[in-house]
Amino acid sequence: MALALAREVDLVVVGPEAPLVAGLADRLRAAGVAVFGPSAQGAQLEGSKVFSKQFFARHHIRTAAFRVASSVAEVEDAIAELGAALVVKADGLAAGKGVVVCSDAQEVRAAAVEMLGGRFGAASKQVVLEQRLSGREVSVLALTDGRGLEVLAPAEDHKTIFDGDRGPNTGGMGTVSPAWISEDLLARIRREILEPTVAGLNAEGIDYRGVLYAGVMVDPAGQPWLLEYNCRFGDPETQPIMARLRGDLGAVLAGAARGAMPAGALSWDPRAAVCVVVAAAGYPDAPRLGEVIRGAEGPWGDGVTVFHAGTARRDDVLVSAGGRVLGVTALGATVEEARRQAYAAVDRIELPGKQVRRDIGLRGGAAG
Ligand code: AMP
Ligand code: GLY
Repeated sequence: MALALAREVDLVVVGPEAPLVAGLADRLRAAGVAVFGPSAQGAQLEGSKVFSKQFFARHHIRTAAFRVASSVAEVEDAIAELGAALVVKADGLAAGKGVVVCSDAQEVRAAAVEMLGGRFGAASKQVVLEQRLSGREVSVLALTDGRGLEVLAPAEDHKTIFDGDRGPNTGGMGTVSPAWISEDLLARIRREILEPTVAGLNAEGIDYRGVLYAGVMVDPAGQPWLLEYNCRFGDPETQPIMARLRGDLGAVLAGAARGAMPAGALSWDPRAAVCVVVAAAGYPDAPRLGEVIRGAEGPWGDGVTVFHAGTARRDDVLVSAGGRVLGVTALGATVEEARRQAYAAVDRIELPGKQVRRDIGLRGGAAG
């Protein structure tokens, strides 16, 4: 905040969710700085699962049936009403660890009791219990100035640590854009999920100028269900999206920050982009940090970008400083070609004990 004022910056883009939930965008705006990022109230769409699920219900946005519980008795009520194929979600921010997908009542109880017992402190004083959906997921990010929407090219994440969607969930191990959904389905997601959200925010007087990142589950009948919103750019969705983006993003974000986003200013490279995450040994539980990284500088061929996520410089040497270390991103005429380029670059980067999924972009399906 002090830096933004001292440098008289034209635009602040707030990246992570925690400062948004804590009201950084409001404070900057009050000080006269243009900000791309929602108000604290708007950021509750990510910051509180209870708020967000109730918001979806109020505005008739298709989402899994749910109950809110703050006691073991309420957890039992939810199981009785909704069945035991439930997903247990901590209300507040839990760095991506606050969601447990369960298959039976035992698992539901165990997850809920652990959360209500303070696993995430105040963030899990309440939990959401919702029906478990099946289908295929897609991440749809949209920019909004509070009125209009600029829907970005969709991307598909690969959430678990191991190939074949096995192992614990991570923040995301790799992404593909375009995603598998059709243009029609994307239009439906806009109409049935994103537009009612913007209308709902307006009806409730909530200032939202930022990213609406919808996590959507498409069921086997092709119906889109809203799992959650994030109030920021997604990682690693944003890497392939940026690789394909054409147009002046800065002008769009600055316009959105002022409440006057230019329409139709962005277009998309028709090529596919694949991002493969290079993660540290021990991620997601206990990432080993401070390992020396070699070969991350390239040189890389056309269309390859290595995004730094968890890196630092120690005495001029590049070292790992986070669980997800690099996002190696490549463009290609097809997903297969983009995959080949991305993995060729990944294989030239050395990081002791590095973890890489080898199946990013192999799910296939029609690209839209
Ligand atoms: P969320 O943070 O709410 O998006 O949840 C994280 C991940 O948990 C999602 O990307 C899904 O893979 C899974 N998940 C969340 N809610 C559900 C649900 N109702 N049914 C099935 N899987 C879910
Ligand atoms: N890729 C998921 C996230 O950014 O939260």
